[in-house]
Amino acid sequence: MSAELPKVELHLHLEGAAPPALIRDLARRKHVDLSGIFDARGGYAFRDFWHFLGVYEAATSVLTTPEDYARLTRAVLEESAASGVIYTEAFLSPDFCGGRDVSAWRDYVAAMAEAAAAAQRDCGITLRGVVTAIRHFGPEKARETAQCAAETMGGFITGFGLAGDERKGEPKDFAWSFDLAREAGLGLTAHAGEWAGPDSVRDAIRDLAVARIGHGVRAIEDLALVDEIAEAGIVLEVCPGSNVALGLYPSFRAHPIADLDRRGVKVTVSTDDPPFFHTTMRCEYEALAEAFDWDEGQFLRLARTAADAAFCDAETRAEILKKLA
Ligand code: ADE
Ligand code: ZN
Repeated sequence: MSAELPKVELHLHLEGAAPPALIRDLARRKHVDLSGIFDARGGYAFRDFWHFLGVYEAATSVLTTPEDYARLTRAVLEESAASGVIYTEAFLSPDFCGGRDVSAWRDYVAAMAEAAAAAQRDCGITLRGVVTAIRHFGPEKARETAQCAAETMGGFITGFGLAGDERKGEPKDFAWSFDLAREAGLGLTAHAGEWAGPDSVRDAIRDLAVARIGHGVRAIEDLALVDEIAEAGIVLEVCPGSNVALGLYPSFRAHPIADLDRRGVKVTVSTDDPPFFHTTMRCEYEALAEAFDWDEGQFLRLARTAADAAFCDAETRAEILKKLA
């Protein structure tokens, strides 16, 4: 398959995409001992999803200024562009960027937007930000996060999401935040159906009225729900390599993405937290091509689905679709 096949990614956690070398460098400069989060080869080390969340937050602890986030944004976009990604959306968390203080958050957004504009000029990749509440931090903090999102909506910030430990709380606990984000004009997505079952997907759709679901793959355990998702045109941000790396499925071949696609669900392909899971968009495409015998036409079809579902303005969408034509 052509390495230059243009790719559109909808589900990428900015801190989760941080190259380990960058985090190690920041830790050294700031005299923070992060040796416990790396393996012998210098990659991130974790036992399971819940340990992963802890390692993620430890790595993020050395990203403490807007300049750090500008450097991170540049590094991540260079890596994505090298995989052929032409448009990407990143989950950004005011929890990590200024502690949900709106004024501090504005400075972080400005730094990331500037780095993204430079990467667009230099590498031909477009980035939009999806402000994301962290579920296990609780609904109160999510409200402050939604306020940060609403205050910075427009241009670079175009979406609102929910990530973190799906087993903590219920989607309805976050309805107030999603209502505020919707009224501000932000596109909506929530993680569900990754560690919790099909009911978590049903609840997120009913209580948060999201257009997209992060993962959502465990919907496959309830075929009536699969039909509802297909009928409603809700888009799944599927991250097969992440699911395999975290042990949700034993292999790409055992992953339900192809089955969901055959059943009429709008599926897309993303990496989630690429260095944590030893993946890139190019690796995802190669593994999917091998597992399901997918060809370029199939990948372009999924990329068009992603472009149609992107939280961006009409002009940006038209530009992406032109590159996919
Ligand atoms: N944060 C970073 N990656 C995540 C994932 N796969 N699920 C939930 N929260 C996350
Ligand atoms: Zn995710």
